Amino acid sequence: MSVGIDEISFYTSNYYLDLRTLAQVQGTDPEKYYTGIGQEKMGMAAPDEDIVTMAANAALPLVERIGPETIGTLLFATETGIDQSKAAGVYVHRLLGLSANCRVVELKQACYSATAAIQMACALVARKPDSKVLVIASDIARYDLDTPGEATQGCGAVALLISANPRLVTIDPEVGNYTEDVMDFWRPNYRSTALVDGKYSTKIYLKALKKAWEHFREASSLAFADFSHFCYHLPFSRMAQKAHQQLVKLNRAGLSSAEQEAQISNTLLYNRIIGNSYTASMYIGLTSLLENTLEDLAGKRIGFFSYGSGCVAEFFSGTVVDGYKQALHTELHREMLNARREISHDEYLKLYQHQVPTDGGEYTFPEGTTGRFRLAGIIHHKREYIPC
Ligand code: CAA
Repeated sequence: MSVGIDEISFYTSNYYLDLRTLAQVQGTDPEKYYTGIGQEKMGMAAPDEDIVTMAANAALPLVERIGPETIGTLLFATETGIDQSKAAGVYVHRLLGLSANCRVVELKQACYSATAAIQMACALVARKPDSKVLVIASDIARYDLDTPGEATQGCGAVALLISANPRLVTIDPEVGNYTEDVMDFWRPNYRSTALVDGKYSTKIYLKALKKAWEHFREASSLAFADFSHFCYHLPFSRMAQKAHQQLVKLNRAGLSSAEQEAQISNTLLYNRIIGNSYTASMYIGLTSLLENTLEDLAGKRIGFFSYGSGCVAEFFSGTVVDGYKQALHTELHREMLNARREISHDEYLKLYQHQVPTDGGEYTFPEGTTGRFRLAGIIHHKREYIPC
């Protein structure tokens, strides 16, 4: 029996800032963003949107298809937590009408936790092959204004259905792990924006890739040449290009630049116009690969490198399933991305500066999202989510 990803659906906000606009205001060459970091646009969440509404929007098409009662477990991965105690997935559970017998929990380890959730989901399904686990990764990437991280913001959520005999990608049990206690990127509880040692974080990312790959090679009989494509964690798309160059070099693979690029280029398309979505980003990258590759990927093996600052990293592998194209939500995703509205720099600042009040008073959120769920208000410190 194989276990893996049966369906994927993602969501991002209806607003984006073009990085040319940011560059113009900053007096920076836009090519620094478009070429230097490989990003064109960044998604900006509406004031009435958060990880819960984005998660529910991402999962809705999938839940509508299989029926809410079929999901036995919901694992919610995020590093944009909204509560120190209550799992964000419990709100999503109600919004999606999941069964009262469905277990829900939230997982955290920076951008890595969706991968932990998927591995746990695969283990649950292997134990009980008729069960289905919904994994949702949802994040809003935020850095301080006028810092190098500002251009790498973004927002998005991805929902993955994990099942036996999946229709999209089977996941192999062998993995390579690497963990080290470092301070490259973190967000203390009292801050709404991340702190980051940017250049150091890119070095640690590359070190973790090398170590996780070496461990993977000890655990698995697969070699570099067995993979046709690679999905990397995508803080910005140039990071994946650098990572892939390193992996090619490590393996003395002798590929031309064009061959190297072909192994990752289609994974980058959505991220370039959404920005960083932390836990969701590598899986939006996988969606981008499956939805934008014309050739049939059935039977092709994909290498995944998941990285979460702090840091925990994992390299694992999967194989694309015959007939996968029928199980994709390609049109839905393209329509959503095409329907987004470009915002001015002033509108960006307004969205950026919108604060969720903390005084416990009654607050009604301004309307902005075009999604199917919104954060309507806060009363007595309780968030109120409603369908639109
Ligand atoms: N035309 C073309 N390229 C240009 C250019 C121009 N006019 N001007 C600059 N560039 C290039 C630079 O040469 C550089 O390329 P190389 O890296 O290939 O040398 C690139 O643009 C970036 O420019 P800088 O080196 O000046 O970098 P910066 O000071 O703007 O910072 C950054 C870049 C460190 C990535 C910053 O955006 C940042 O801190 N981002 C947030 C942290 C992050 O994403 N880290 C990634 C690893 S951690 C992780 O993955 C977890 C996570 O999700 C956060």
